[in-house]
This record gives sequence, structure tokens and C-alpha cells, in this order.
Amino acid sequence: MKEMLNIALPKGRLGEQSYELFERAGFPCREAITDSRKLIFENEEAGVRYFWVKPSDVAIYVERGAADLGVVGKDVLREETPEVYELLDLGIGRCRMAAAAKNGFKDDPSHTLRVATKFPNVAKAHYAAVGREIDVIRLNGSIELAPILGLSDVIVDIVETGTTLRENDLSVVEELFPISARLIANRASYIFKKGPVSRAVGALAAVAKEAGR
Ligand code: PRP
Repeated sequence: MKEMLNIALPKGRLGEQSYELFERAGFPCREAITDSRKLIFENEEAGVRYFWVKPSDVAIYVERGAADLGVVGKDVLREETPEVYELLDLGIGRCRMAAAAKNGFKDDPSHTLRVATKFPNVAKAHYAAVGREIDVIRLNGSIELAPILGLSDVIVDIVETGTTLRENDLSVVEELFPISARLIANRASYIFKKGPVSRAVGALAAVAKEAGR
């Protein structure tokens, strides 16, 4: 029997784009993108089993071996540093991590900088590297509200089109790093399923490159 690759896809648009890359790479399972409440989809012939999980949970499934492969944003990898192999930049889901504040904001270094974010580790690492003392305020969403309401001085968050910042009179004060979706692998699967894993990586690298043109 063919060895199956278990693949964790992030629910949502990024997951659908990721699935398209896998399909073009020779791992189709059309049923996976039908509108249904089913969570697991299998194509035995192609040797794949897909499942949809919350984007922030993909790395956990892969780290613990419930999935051999997964697709996760560089933002999550930098925040959680899971023990997985990062194999490929898929070139989709491009955006950036940035610090932003109200238009005209001037940092006062004599005060601790209050930073609202969903990415406390990313924020701590960044400000530690530049030697700035901060107070991290961890939020789960609508981060842009924090500086508007005076809950924080700045935010560290994902900026894609910049629309959310613009429409709320905020602007980027510092770019931290670029983000895109990465293919990750469980460390044991990388060794014990080396054949199918390297075939998938090779084929995905080719289609991702083509898509990037
Ligand atoms: C993300 C991010 C920003 C927004 C950036 O939020 O946290 O708020 O997208 O996109 P833009 O630059 O194209 O406006 P998300 O939609 O994930 O919702 P959230 O508020 O729950 O974090």
C-alpha cells in the first residue's frame, strides 16, 4: 500500500491557495475544497490525506507528528519557534510584520514603550535587540484599536495592504520582517517518510516557483 502523507492545511484563503499548489504538484483531492463540514479528505491513489485546522494550530499538529507536512506563516514560526523543519517558501500569503502607531507618533525613550500585539515573543525579541524597554500587552485581535484608545503606544502586527492602518489614522513606524507561507515537516516524518516527503518538496518547489513569476 502506498505510504500516505498527512498534510495540515490552514483553514481560510491561505489554505485554499496552499491546496491549489499541492494539487498542481500532483497531490489532488478536489473533495478537500468542497463546501462541507468534513475535516479530513483522502486520495489514496495520490497518497495524500488533508485536514483543515486553525492556522495557528498547524505547527502543533506537525510538531507532534499528527501531520507530516503543514503550511504555516513565517509570523507563526517566528512567534512559536516550533520544533519542525522549514522546507520551503511557498511564495503565497505575502505580508509583513511591522510596528505601527498613530500618525505623528514620537517615541519618548524615557518611558517604557507599551506594545499591543498578538505576537509577544516577536515583539520582545525585536525590542530587546534594539535595547528598548517595553511592556507587552497581549491581545487576540483588532490590535489597531489599542493605540487609538490609548491602551498602547504602538502595535506589532501583520500589515498586508495597509488598509486597516490607513483607515484608522495609523502608520508603520518600523518594518520587522517579511512574511510568507512556509512548508514545514515533522522531524521524524522527514526521515521515515523521506521518499514521499522529498517528492512533495521537489514538486511544490517547482510549482511555487512558477506561481511566483
Ligand atoms: C490582520 C492584521 C491586521 C490586518 C492587516 O488582521 O492583524 O489587522 O489583517 O491587513 P491590511 O494591511 O490588508 O489591512 P485579521 O484580519 O487577521 O484580524 P484580527 O483583527 O482578528 O487580527
